[in-house]
Amino acid sequence: MHKDGIKHKSSVDFSTPSQSYYVLQQKDCLELLKEIPDESVQLILIDPPYNLDLAEWDKYDNYIDWASAWIRESYRVLSPNGSMVVFGGTQFQNEKSGDLIELIHYCRHNTDFRLVNMVVWYYKNGMSAHRYFANRHEEAIWLTKSSDYYFDLDSVRVPYGEKEMQEALRDKRLVPENVMKGKNPTNVWEIGRLNGNSLERVGHPTQKPLEIIRRFVKALAYPGSVVLDFFAGSGTTGRVCIEENRHCIMCDKDEQSRSFFAKHLKNIEGDMFVHPYIELKGLNAFWEKVSFEPSVSQASEFENQYSANH
Ligand SMILES: C[S@@+](CC[C@H](N)C(=O)[O-])C[C@H]1O[C@@H](n2cnc3c(N)ncnc32)[C@H](O)[C@@H]1O
Repeated sequence: MHKDGIKHKSSVDFSTPSQSYYVLQQKDCLELLKEIPDESVQLILIDPPYNLDLAEWDKYDNYIDWASAWIRESYRVLSPNGSMVVFGGTQFQNEKSGDLIELIHYCRHNTDFRLVNMVVWYYKNGMSAHRYFANRHEEAIWLTKSSDYYFDLDSVRVPYGEKEMQEALRDKRLVPENVMKGKNPTNVWEIGRLNGNSLERVGHPTQKPLEIIRRFVKALAYPGSVVLDFFAGSGTTGRVCIEENRHCIMCDKDEQSRSFFAKHLKNIEGDMFVHPYIELKGLNAFWEKVSFEPSVSQASEFENQYSANH
């Protein structure tokens, strides 16, 4: 909503589905992307490999050549008001390795993507270091195709403490209606890394915390829309989509993904707040069930980039 109460042109009317659908395929990301129709995906949320030798899957001879192929395909499959989120860091090691700086540089000079935010994931629990300052953050970039992107800030606002709320209500620069809804989470998110005995852990070496993925999914994809993660790993994105009523397409070239994802599913088993979810075996079956045109029924209101910071 604009401050004058008029709906922003990026707002979407959607109907919340009674069940969600997902696909999880074992294949190379470029093979999967070829099968996805133009402008059919609302949110692409990926945590790519960066040639850091963390594992066997983390090796590409010419990183940016390879990455440019999936970036191009991502632009094609993304809906006009959609978003792409890419996790990463800035730890390049040699000219063959990749990192987020290289991806940003590539997108800026070779694509029509716009960078909306760089989100800093800050955590207190990290490795110690003696030859450099111990690292306590990673990043994710949020890219869009235009300035008319879907963004539901209200769904991810952070509640004020009681005293903070009273102060914020006295602050003339803030809109009281927004203060009551909670704070803008800002682009620095403090969320603990998963430690060895975290209940969320399903065994993938670079599994992301649910809380980070959930914030992106809720803010950038409306219920019933399609989220794509073509470096699915354990399928954290798929789990969040099921919990938040979004449809999800996932692939990973590693056969272990399926058993990791089975553990995610076990963790949500019996949760009465989770709507029914159904696995579909291929993309044809998926597109038969899932439309990528938003239907007009339940109006929703979305914050735009002109809103106050809180
Ligand atoms: C950083 S991990 C993703 C972890 C995930 N975010 C999670 O929370 O579990 C990257 C994944 O990309 C997969 N991968 C690497 N190259 C790939 C390719 N060309 N196509 C599909 N998957 C690939 C790896 O097998 C690995 O599981």
